[in-house]
Amino acid sequence: MTLNHFCGIITFSLNLVLFASHCNGGNILVFPVDGSHWINMKIVLEELHTRGHNITVIRSSNSWYIPEKSPIYTSITLEMDQGLENFFDIYLQEHMRAQREGASLMTFLKLTKDFLSMITKAHLLWCDATTQIFQNQTLVKKLKDSQYDLVLADPAMGPGALIAKHLKLPLVLNVRWITSGEGHFVLAPSPLSYIPVPGSGLTDKMDFIQRVKNMFFYSIVFFQEKFLIGPIYADLCNRHIEGGCDIVSLLQDADIWLFRSDFVFEFPRPTMPNVVYIGGFQCKPAKPLPADLEEFVQSAGEHGFIIMTLGTLVNALPKEVTDEIASIFAKMPQKVIWRHKGTRPSTLGNNTMIVDWMPQKDLLGHPNIKVFVAHGGTNGVQEAIYYGVPVLGIPLFFDQYDNLLRLQKREAAKVILLDNVNGPNFEKAIRELLYNDSYRQNMQRLSSLHRDQPMPPMDQATFWIEYVIRHKGATHLRTQAYKLPWYSYHCLDVLVVLIAVIMGLLFLVFAVFRFLFCRGGRNRKLKQY
Ligand SMILES: *[C@@H]1O[C@H](CO)[C@@H](O)[C@H](O)[C@H]1NC(C)=O
Ligand SMILES: *[C@@H]1O[C@H](CO)[C@@H](O)[C@H](O)[C@H]1NC(C)=O
Ligand SMILES: *[C@@H]1O[C@H](CO)[C@@H](O)[C@H](O)[C@H]1NC(C)=O
Ligand SMILES: *[C@@H]1O[C@H](CO)[C@@H](O)[C@H](O)[C@H]1NC(C)=O
Repeated sequence: MTLNHFCGIITFSLNLVLFASHCNGGNILVFPVDGSHWINMKIVLEELHTRGHNITVIRSSNSWYIPEKSPIYTSITLEMDQGLENFFDIYLQEHMRAQREGASLMTFLKLTKDFLSMITKAHLLWCDATTQIFQNQTLVKKLKDSQYDLVLADPAMGPGALIAKHLKLPLVLNVRWITSGEGHFVLAPSPLSYIPVPGSGLTDKMDFIQRVKNMFFYSIVFFQEKFLIGPIYADLCNRHIEGGCDIVSLLQDADIWLFRSDFVFEFPRPTMPNVVYIGGFQCKPAKPLPADLEEFVQSAGEHGFIIMTLGTLVNALPKEVTDEIASIFAKMPQKVIWRHKGTRPSTLGNNTMIVDWMPQKDLLGHPNIKVFVAHGGTNGVQEAIYYGVPVLGIPLFFDQYDNLLRLQKREAAKVILLDNVNGPNFEKAIRELLYNDSYRQNMQRLSSLHRDQPMPPMDQATFWIEYVIRHKGATHLRTQAYKLPWYSYHCLDVLVVLIAVIMGLLFLVFAVFRFLFCRGGRNRKLKQY
């Protein structure tokens, strides 16, 4: 062994020790978003906590899910007296009622308007809360003194990015949705010819009319960004960020995007070097069920069991429909576990268990499960892919239809729209999923593709967070694209100059020819005389 080698090894091990000790002591400031987004974030935080990082979470005083006290983090609570909960509930009920009555352009426009005003309100509330931070010198000093290594933020709301910029800290996003729309659209080239805008219900194969529709949906997102959300943050940016900013450029400045999706689920599209796909990071091999539940699901023998949940937020279906569904379940040889709030359906069979909560992932991972009846939230869909369980989807709102569509396109799910949910349709769909094996096979194929990765998604997430801590950011992975004005991005300025030069040359050639030709002509004429 040469001396060089020896030194190399020493430095290498020294580095390992340094890296390891540094990473164990990582100090992370987290800005999560409430609701189902928190469920995701919490799982990442638990993992970071077990790896020895110190975590501080920023929350609002009227948060639905994010507790003030927790064994895994300390919290900073911002006062927010006005909540969105009522507003949100009313919107969702209205949305579902409209869908059940069948969609028309008028209801679509009204719902879009309601949605935008709800989103606007949420952003306004959070901007006020962020101002509370920036105007409180004690708090800003405390944040600066804490010497955080990075900010981990959910960019569905803007404050995380603003705080990172204000404190001059690296920023890692746990993302699928940003302040307006899907994250990729502000990050990577996104030609609308083959990349469907979420909400449009389109796939990556579009005919002319569908591309027009896609463009229309994109224009809604664009409008939302430019005229609703952007201006809300502009004021905060001007007052508290050196040199001003806009919220999208702050997000584009993030060091790493931990994206809650992957290309087993998503249609192929261009992406960027600082995007890390962590879809399904919340999934682990299933744990054994509690004894009573295990006995219940085993009791149907080879017929297996079905689970049904339409999310935590609402009672999605009217009473008549739940009664019909209950009576269909009652006829089946399978056992059913149904997460259902509200009144018990009168037609409930003795093979159906109604629960408030269930260990969904462990049930999905059980060998006897046959079908997952779900509303198609990102988490549920990723879990269905991980465990390879075919899905009967009843999308309610937001991105749920688009999520389910991605499974249906791969013939791994069936989707029933709300205005079509009734006994006969439900029965037909569930029988097909139960007795046509191709759905299960397709889902199992997606599952094996999803699991065949060099590193589990959760390890990727923590690796890249620690990478940013070790290197104090990851600016080398960021493109220059975001700094360019739009005409330079598309090289229009270059084209204009090139075209001008070519035109100039052509004109010159033409002029020379004309000169020669005319002189020649004159000469000939002269000779004739
Ligand atoms: C400023 O922040 C400190 C520390 O978090 C807190 O105790 C105090 O109540 C805040 N002051 C105001 C006016 O919000
Ligand atoms: C963790 O962070 C909190 C808040 O910044 C700080 O008070 C505490 O001292 C930190 N603990 C460690 C072990 O670094
Ligand atoms: C459930 O009901 C069916 C008929 O309604 C009956 O045959 C069966 O014994 C019942 N099973 C249990 C476990 O009660
Ligand atoms: C099963 O489902 C697949 C996919 O939808 C379909 O192509 C096939 O014809 C079905 N088979 C039967 C026997 O219905």
